[in-house]
Amino acid sequence: MEEKLTDEERKYYVLVRKAFAILAPYYDVVAIPFSGVRDKVVNITNAKKGSKILDVATGTGQQAFAFAKKGYEVIGIDLSDAMLDVARKKNKFGNAKFEVADATNLPFEDDSFDVSTISFALHDMPLTIREKILKEIVRVTRPQGTIVVADYNLPENKISKFLIYHFVSLYEAEYYKTFIKSDLETLLHKNRIKVIDKDTVMLGAGRILKGINNKL
Ligand SMILES: C[S@@+](CC[C@H](N)C(=O)[O-])C[C@H]1O[C@@H](n2cnc3c(N)ncnc32)[C@H](O)[C@@H]1O
Repeated sequence: MEEKLTDEERKYYVLVRKAFAILAPYYDVVAIPFSGVRDKVVNITNAKKGSKILDVATGTGQQAFAFAKKGYEVIGIDLSDAMLDVARKKNKFGNAKFEVADATNLPFEDDSFDVSTISFALHDMPLTIREKILKEIVRVTRPQGTIVVADYNLPENKISKFLIYHFVSLYEAEYYKTFIKSDLETLLHKNRIKVIDKDTVMLGAGRILKGINNKL
């Protein structure tokens, strides 16, 4: 049965589809500041050889490729076919695959993946969508599997905090402001993801949270 969307959710889907169809050809340039984060996400997972990895909201696939390079079997999903087209054109790996899917309704069985990641996507959506996506990630990741979230952060230093907040607010959608003021770790805990490790990246403007899937 199709779930009813709120007006805010409907507006978000229209915006995401439109925005990323336009941005797709330029996204890899826009995302240069995130490039140093990809290998750090792979390393923090400490995934065993042969692990099955899901990269949610993979965009042009940069995080998925960082896993593929290390030999993991990885699937990247995204709502935007335009973003995935860029990923597919760059894909030189037999162990990386890309599928169009809505992360609020993932086309995978329960417990399908050892590791799931989502990078620089949760800040870009209403809280209700963020929660639906986290629930789906927990569902498709095996119990005690690893879930890694990389996203924006604000540094402790007041001047850096002020500068980064106002700079990122210039180009990010309206949801960034509420996301950055919200407590991401509490949201993860509420959704049965126990944070066990973290790292600060991009001079404090980003962070990586590693969690364990505590669903059982
Ligand atoms: C800022 S980009 C981040 C892409 C990539 N993860 C990265 O780190 O570069 C956000 C991506 O989230 C995708 N997205 C947003 N909402 C989604 C949803 N409900 N399901 C799947 N993908 C979604 C967008 O299409 C876009 O490709």
